[in-house]
Amino acid sequence: MTARRTALVTGASRGIGRAIAERLAAEGFDLTLSARTDGPLKDAADALRAHGQRVETAPADMADPAEVEALADAHLELHGGLDVLVLAAGMGAGGELSTYPLNKFDTMMSVNVRSALLLTQRLLPALRTAGSAPSGPGAKIIAIASITGVVSEPGLAAYGASKAALISLCESITVAEGGRGVSATALSPGYVDTDMAAWVHDRVDPSSMIRASDIAELTVALCRLSRHAAVPNIVVTRPGETLWRA
Ligand SMILES: NC(=O)c1ccc[n+]([C@@H]2O[C@H](COP(=O)([O-])OP(=O)(O)OC[C@H]3O[C@@H](n4cnc5c(N)ncnc54)[C@H](OP(=O)(O)O)[C@@H]3O)[C@@H](O)[C@H]2O)c1
Repeated sequence: MTARRTALVTGASRGIGRAIAERLAAEGFDLTLSARTDGPLKDAADALRAHGQRVETAPADMADPAEVEALADAHLELHGGLDVLVLAAGMGAGGELSTYPLNKFDTMMSVNVRSALLLTQRLLPALRTAGSAPSGPGAKIIAIASITGVVSEPGLAAYGASKAALISLCESITVAEGGRGVSATALSPGYVDTDMAAWVHDRVDPSSMIRASDIAELTVALCRLSRHAAVPNIVVTRPGETLWRA
């Protein structure tokens, strides 16, 4: 394990990823923040440096495998190791199952699932090193999935399929790598009040949505767990009649 814990956070320029990055910076993690757009990413990094940690940026499009690999390499070059990988970059695109365009499905699977596998593969040696200290907390992968990967939601078939695959990937990572101190958790929320959920504002009041800070709180708790506790998936849902709905 590196002397200071480090984390790579994708989707870190806004929304859930940014809230997680803020909490990890406050917890003392050195960070690499990633997203596609450089300006907002730099703004996020500038704000997070107030916590006194080293915060670097590395833009990458999760749809492009070459950029995903370059991101993994950039993080290791910047920080020399990795304790926590947060996979928050994602895309959501609703549509009817019967006519859903296959090219959109392929892009969503690339961003939401393939990039998670590729980043994990590329970073496993560093994660195994971080996970090897017998008294340490182990290395953690935390992926932001969705309740739609657990319970089907009308109009979100393709998105839900990508998130179900991500939840399954997290389980498989823990099965394959848990003995080496590397475990993965999917966090599977319903609607969280971020830009991504703006398209349902006409029927879901944003003030009733889960807060990005709730997901960040769970992430910090997972990072504090000992290496002996594996948490495959946490569903976070809105109280009341929307329980178990997005
Ligand atoms: N909000 C919800 O209701 C909700 C519910 C359940 C699960 N989730 C999941 O939570 C995760 C975060 O969503 P959010 O609500 O925080 O969304 P958001 O506010 O729209 O933020 C998305 C972040 O991901 C980045 N991003 C988007 N596409 C990318 C790509 N192809 N490559 C690299 N980075 C990309 C964005 O920056 P750039 O655009 O600059 O790349 C941004 O930093 C997603 O995986 C989403 O599926 C969200």
